[in-house]
Amino acid sequence: MKYLKLGDDLHASQLIYGVMRTADLSVEEMEELVKTALDEGVNFFDHADIYGAPDDGACEQLFGEVLKRHPEYRKKMILQTKCGIMHGSYDFSKKHILESVDKSLERLQTDYIDILLLHRPDALYEPEEIAEAFDELERAGKVRHFGVSNMPPMQIDYLQSKLNQKLIVNQLHFNPAHAGMLGPTLFMNTPEEPAYDRDGYIIDYTRLHNITIQAWSIFQPTSKDGTYLDNPKYQELNDCLEKYAKKYNVEKSAIVVAWIMRHPAHIQPIFGTTKVEHLKQLAKGVDIELDRLEWYDIYNHAVQEVQ
Ligand SMILES: NC(=O)c1ccc[n+]([C@@H]2O[C@H](COP(=O)([O-])OP(=O)(O)OC[C@H]3O[C@@H](n4cnc5c(N)ncnc54)[C@H](OP(=O)(O)O)[C@@H]3O)[C@@H](O)[C@H]2O)c1
Repeated sequence: MKYLKLGDDLHASQLIYGVMRTADLSVEEMEELVKTALDEGVNFFDHADIYGAPDDGACEQLFGEVLKRHPEYRKKMILQTKCGIMHGSYDFSKKHILESVDKSLERLQTDYIDILLLHRPDALYEPEEIAEAFDELERAGKVRHFGVSNMPPMQIDYLQSKLNQKLIVNQLHFNPAHAGMLGPTLFMNTPEEPAYDRDGYIIDYTRLHNITIQAWSIFQPTSKDGTYLDNPKYQELNDCLEKYAKKYNVEKSAIVVAWIMRHPAHIQPIFGTTKVEHLKQLAKGVDIELDRLEWYDIYNHAVQEVQ
C-alpha cells in the first residue's frame, strides 16, 4: 500500500474504501470486507450520513456493528464521514452539521470522526455558520479535520477565508471515463468539447492549495448508470484496459486504480465494491506504475468514447 500524510497527523492509505453500497450486507459480510481491506493496507473508510437510503445511516450503523465486535480496529483506522445532502435539498446550517455529526458518532460507535466533509454545495450556505459548527466540533474533540466534496475553487476560497481550520480534502467524481477535470488543460485553446471547463481547473487549484482530491465512483462513468467495466458501450476503453491488465497480470480494475494514482496530484481512489474478490483484485493496482504513454493511451481511448 502507498500512504499519504493528510492534515498534519494522518497516515492515510492512498486507497480508500467507500461503504455507500453496503447497507444490505450482513454484519459478518461487512466484517470480512473490513478485515480484507485492513489486510490489504487500506486504513481509510469513507462514510456519509445518508448512505443506506431509504434508511439514512444504515451503512454507518452496519460499520458500527463491526467496530463493536472489533474495538481494536478503531485506532488503526481513519474514519471520514459527510453531511449536508438531504432528500431533494442541501443543508450546511450549523444546526444540521452538529446534529448530523452526533448521529454519525452514535451509529459508528466511536467518539471522534477523523475527517468531516461537506457533501455537496448548499446554495443557501452561510460560511460563518459553518465556521461556528466546525469550531464547536473541533473544541468538543468530535471531529479532527475538515474538508469538502464536489466543491468548486471559488467557493472553497470563500469558505476557507471564514474558517479556523484548513480544508484538506475535496472529494470529486473522477476516472478514465469521467475525466472532465483534465480536458480544459489538455485541450486548451482548441474547439474540442473537452476544452470546456466545468470544474474550475480544480486539479491545479487543489495542488496549489495542498488539498487532496479523493476520486469517487472510480468504475462509474456517471453517478446513475452502472459500471463501464465490461460494458459494451465502453468497448474501446475496456479493450485498452484489458491490454494493460494482461501486461501487468492483473484485472482491469487494478489498471484503473493505477491510472488514477499515476497522476502526480496524489489522488486517493475510493472504491465501493461489496465483494472481497473485487477488493483484492483492484488493490493490486497500487503496485503498478504506468508509464506516460500507457497513461495517455488509456485517457485517449476513454476521452474519444465519452465525447
Ligand atoms: N462525494 C460524493 O458525492 C460521492 C458520490 C458517490 C460515491 N461516493 C463515495 O465513493 C465510494 C465509491 O463509489 P461507488 O461505489 O460508486 O464506486 P465504484 O467502486 O466505482 O463502484 C462500485 C460498483 O462497481 C461494481 N463493480 C463491477 N465490477 C467491479 C470490479 N471488477 N471491481 C470493483 N467493482 C466492480 C461494484 O459491484 P460489486 O459490489 O459487485 O463489486 C459496485 O456496484 C462510495 O462508497 C462513497 O464512499 C462519494
